[in-house]
Amino acid sequence: MNEILKIGHRGANGYEPENTLISFQKAIEMGANGIELDVHLSSDGHLIVIHDETIDRTTNGKGTVNQLTLQELKSFRINNKYEIPTLEEVLDLINKRCFINIELKNQDTAEQVVQLIERNISENNWNHTHFLVSSFDWNALQQVRFLNEDIRIGVLTETDMDLAFSFARFIKAEALHPDFQLLTNEYTVKIQEKGIRVFPWTVNDKEDIQRMKSFKVDGIITDFLDRI
Ligand code: G3P
Ligand code: CA
Repeated sequence: MNEILKIGHRGANGYEPENTLISFQKAIEMGANGIELDVHLSSDGHLIVIHDETIDRTTNGKGTVNQLTLQELKSFRINNKYEIPTLEEVLDLINKRCFINIELKNQDTAEQVVQLIERNISENNWNHTHFLVSSFDWNALQQVRFLNEDIRIGVLTETDMDLAFSFARFIKAEALHPDFQLLTNEYTVKIQEKGIRVFPWTVNDKEDIQRMKSFKVDGIITDFLDRI
């Protein structure tokens, strides 16, 4: 049996502040095969790694990411210490040591993420296996597929496995990323039979991790990489 891939949710979210360089570095040190992160656009068009639409929950500032410039975003701190990273900064840090699952939080980011991936593949020796682009916004995923036939896509769902499975086949997805509570052994087999991988999220509890392993999923997105 193939090894189950360990994918660090927002880096090593169980141990370091989410979506920070220190969190991604920790995930690498913990043996991650991949890291998951979230992207939004700043008002001046930079890809910013942050989960929420606003900076209110995770930083000492207030405001909406797409209404703040990169320079403004950089002036705030996470845990009074860390800067909000750009996607380029995360790529520099990771430097091909694992794959990067880029979650598009909305459609605005699709085109630039595609361009960033293409640029790094053509100029910096990255390859397609280093990237996996996922989203709950399936229009954003369609845009990615329209722009590039080869980028690996992960279809996120928290509601409807059947619809997500159909869409994943339609869009030629690499993987389906279900809320782990929706996943069954039957779905796992059915999806994998079509050559689509199964990466449930966010699986933190040891019993849930065991259940996902018993389904023989291809990878697990978790805050606690050491539990897998
Ligand atoms: O990509 C899986 C998971 O990260 C989706 O939910 O809210 O943590 O971005 P969320
Ligand atoms: Ca995410």
